Amino acid sequence: MMNQTSYIEINKLAYSHNIKYLRRILGKDVRISSVVKGNVYGHGVDTIIPLAEKAKINHFSVFSANEALDVFKVASPKSDIMIMGYLSDEQLEWAIENEIEFYVFDLLRLQSAIDYAKKTGKPARIHIETETGFRRTGFEYPMLPEVVKLLKDNPDHIIFEGLCTHYAGAESIENHYRVVNQIVEYKRFLRYFTRNGLVPNYRHTAGSAASLTYPQTTMDMVRMGIAQYGFWPSQETYIHQFKKNQAKDSDLRRVISWKSCVMTVKEVGPGDFVGYGTSYMANKKLKVAIIPVGYTNGFSRSLSNSGRVLIHGKRVPVIGTVTMNTMSVNVTDIPNVQPGDEVVLVGKQKRLSISIASFSEMSNQLNYQTLARLPNNIPRYLV
Ligand SMILES: Cc1ncc(COP(=O)(O)O)c(C=O)c1O
Repeated sequence: MMNQTSYIEINKLAYSHNIKYLRRILGKDVRISSVVKGNVYGHGVDTIIPLAEKAKINHFSVFSANEALDVFKVASPKSDIMIMGYLSDEQLEWAIENEIEFYVFDLLRLQSAIDYAKKTGKPARIHIETETGFRRTGFEYPMLPEVVKLLKDNPDHIIFEGLCTHYAGAESIENHYRVVNQIVEYKRFLRYFTRNGLVPNYRHTAGSAASLTYPQTTMDMVRMGIAQYGFWPSQETYIHQFKKNQAKDSDLRRVISWKSCVMTVKEVGPGDFVGYGTSYMANKKLKVAIIPVGYTNGFSRSLSNSGRVLIHGKRVPVIGTVTMNTMSVNVTDIPNVQPGDEVVLVGKQKRLSISIASFSEMSNQLNYQTLARLPNNIPRYLV
C-alpha cells in the first residue's frame, strides 16, 4: 500500500556491486570517501549511509555543516565526515568539537579554525584546498608561506588531514588540457608543503570521472560521488573504461528506482485539451491516467508533453503540462488500467526500463541535477 504519492527504492545489491567494481579499479590502497551531499544525490541519507558502512566505507563527504549533521546522526561514530564547502563560525566550533573534518580555502577560515581549536581544546582536522584551475575555492600558490607558517605555529591545534583540489570537468576530453594542468599545479602545491616538512595524511583530488579516467589522480583517497550510485559520469568515461578494462555497461548498476501509482483514469474526446492551456489536444478518443506526481515532487515541468513512464510494462507518454502535483499519461493502448496500478518513473518494469539519463536528456539536465532534485520527503526503502 502506498501512503505517499510516490516512493523511492534503493537496491542494496546494486550498491555493493558498484563499490566492489570501483574498489577493483582503484586498488586496495585507495580510500573511498563516499560523497553524500545533496541528500546523497537524492538517494537519502538514512538509506545509503548504513549501506555504505556495510560495504566498509568509513569516510563521507558533504558540502555543508547542515549536511554533515544529517550524516553525523546516522553514521557510525567510527566513520569520518568531511565538509567540502560551507560552514558558519558557530558550525566551525561544532565541527571541531565533534572531530568533523573540513576544507580550509582562505586565511580567515584557517585563523578561525585555529582560534576555535584553542577554545575547544581539540585540534581542527583540516583539508587544505588548493586553487589549481577550477576557480571556485582554494588557496592561491602565493598564499602558501602564510598557510605554512600558521600550520607550523599551531601543531597542537591543527591536524593536516588532507591536501586537495577539484578538477574542472574530468568527464570530458574537451577539458583534458585544463585537467592535466591542474594535476601539475597540484603537485607544485604538494611539493611546497612537503619541502616545508608538512605532509598531509591524505592527498585527494579525484571524483568519479577523474578516478576512472586519470589513474594518477587517485592518490590516497577518492571522493566518489555519482559512480557509486551506478552512473557513468559521462559516455566518454564509460568508453575510456571500455577500452582500458573492457568495461560493460552493467559494471555500474543504477541503485535508485522511483515509483508511483495510477490515481484515476478518465476518457477525453477528440478536440479536448488536456490540462492547463492548449499544449495538448486529443485528436481522437483517448484514455488518460492521472499520476499524483508533479514538479513539486521532482518531476520537472519541462517534461510536459515529452516525459515517459512505465505502466503494465509498457512505455507511455506524458501528455499536456506537468502540474505542481500531477501529470497525465496516455494509456489508450493499455487495457484495464486501474487506480492503484504501479507506475515506474525511474527504473524497471517487466522488460522495459527508464533511466535517469533518458530523463535528463529530455529535460536537458544532467543526471546530477535530476537526482538532487528528488525531494527529501519522498520515502526511501531498501530492497
Ligand atoms: C569537491 C567535490 N569532490 C567530489 C565530488 C564528487 O563528484 P562525482 O559525483 O562526479 O564523483 C564533488 C561533486 O560535485 C565535489 O564537489
